[in-house]
Amino acid sequence: MTRIVYLNGEWLPENEARISVFDRGFLMADGVYEVTCVLDGKLVEYAGHAARLHRSARELGMVLPLNEEELLAVHREIVARNGLDQGMIYLQLTRGVADRDFAYPAEGTPPTLVLFTQAKNVLQNQVAEKGIAVALLPDLRWGRRDIKTIQLLYPSMAKMEAMSRGADDAWLVEDGFVTEGSAANAHIVTADGVLVTRDLSHALLSGITRGSVLELAAQNGIRVEERAFTPAEALSAREAFITSATNFVVPVIRIDETAIGDGTPGALTRDLRRIYIETRRSAAI
Ligand code: PDD
Repeated sequence: MTRIVYLNGEWLPENEARISVFDRGFLMADGVYEVTCVLDGKLVEYAGHAARLHRSARELGMVLPLNEEELLAVHREIVARNGLDQGMIYLQLTRGVADRDFAYPAEGTPPTLVLFTQAKNVLQNQVAEKGIAVALLPDLRWGRRDIKTIQLLYPSMAKMEAMSRGADDAWLVEDGFVTEGSAANAHIVTADGVLVTRDLSHALLSGITRGSVLELAAQNGIRVEERAFTPAEALSAREAFITSATNFVVPVIRIDETAIGDGTPGALTRDLRRIYIETRRSAAI
């Protein structure tokens, strides 16, 4: 099926949407993005994604061409135009089109804003039932991972390396501590049932799903510690899991060659996945 995509105020069949070769997203990876999950044709955690988009743009001195209301309307319209029931909306904002130069183009250069949809069965996710294996790899990304930029080459390389080692994804390690996954936040549950997740800083992305899961854990009487953890602590954890917009909560059952817990998805992880889906599905707009 030909999708209808949004490009700078226009709705176009996907094969008719065109972007300049001088776009700074293409030439310099000078752009930011968001991925918002769609469930039952509704936007999951929209407010969080919209707020983070604004923050990413602000940190890089970019301006969104739409106001709050228009941005929400475009998200809703792209779902409607594509008849999307389950999947995701990808949004990308770049600094626009200009001659290649390391200096930013003049103020007032129109940004490029693209949105498209991708269908995915996010509820019946085989991976969530079975759990995933992750490989520990060095975190060689840049120093502002709190900004959701489109420079995703290293995460992509890390995923490929993890897959070549027989794992599904990577957990990245820097200065002796786990930062996060290639495209997800990383969490463990200790032997005494404490949910440990890295505290926020420039080292990792402030995941919207992460924030919600921490809130839900606290509401459900689970002890939470926001602090860095080592690979050794992860290997001896009772449970481990990742969080991201379209994966929600997915168990990690093996890290490198070590089975986590008894090598099957942990009970707390399964509970958090269920509670997350229940609450965020009913709150979707
Ligand atoms: N990735 N950390 C990184 C590096 C990420 O790229 C993502 C999301 C997350 C989780 O954030 P959230 O819960 O807000 O989705 C953490 C998206 C889904 C992606 O690139 O496809």
